[in-house]
Amino acid sequence: MAHDLAVSWAISFGPIHSPALPFMQTKTVSAAMRKKLERVAAKVMKNAHAPYSNFHVGAAILLTNGRVFSGCNVENASYGMTNCAERTAIFSAVAQLGPKIEIRAVAVTNDHGAACSPCGACRQVIYEFGPDATIFFRGAHGPKQAHITELLPEGFRLL
Ligand code: THU
Repeated sequence: MAHDLAVSWAISFGPIHSPALPFMQTKTVSAAMRKKLERVAAKVMKNAHAPYSNFHVGAAILLTNGRVFSGCNVENASYGMTNCAERTAIFSAVAQLGPKIEIRAVAVTNDHGAACSPCGACRQVIYEFGPDATIFFRGAHGPKQAHITELLPEGFRLL
């Protein structure tokens, strides 16, 4: 059934990811790499500072140069100052390597087993450094992956 749907979709619109969606990457992230990113995200999640929401989040990013960086959410008594796990990971990579990084993939996990895709602010920050990035996260019905432009259509760019 799912196969039939995919086939009829491909006939109607072309192969998945191209040419109907030409902006999307053709490069894939291996299952082993996805697992590694999820492992790294789960580990760094333990460092979260989340006394207000009690919702601990970890993120791992894979760069096109093969390097992996991680981050957790860091909350604040002034709630709006909170930094999400995804942005912590990205800012850490920039701090270590400079701004010429390109994000290939992002994995995000939380300690509630809850559906949790990157928030709007994080989507825009991911897009800045990874306009072709794949995002791994938990959807309403289990693990999901999406291209950043599916999560953030018409992302903002100045450069
Ligand atoms: N949070 C993240 O770190 N990443 C997400 O993708 C969603 C939300 C954090 C922010 C806040 O510390 C807590 O989760 C509850 O919103």
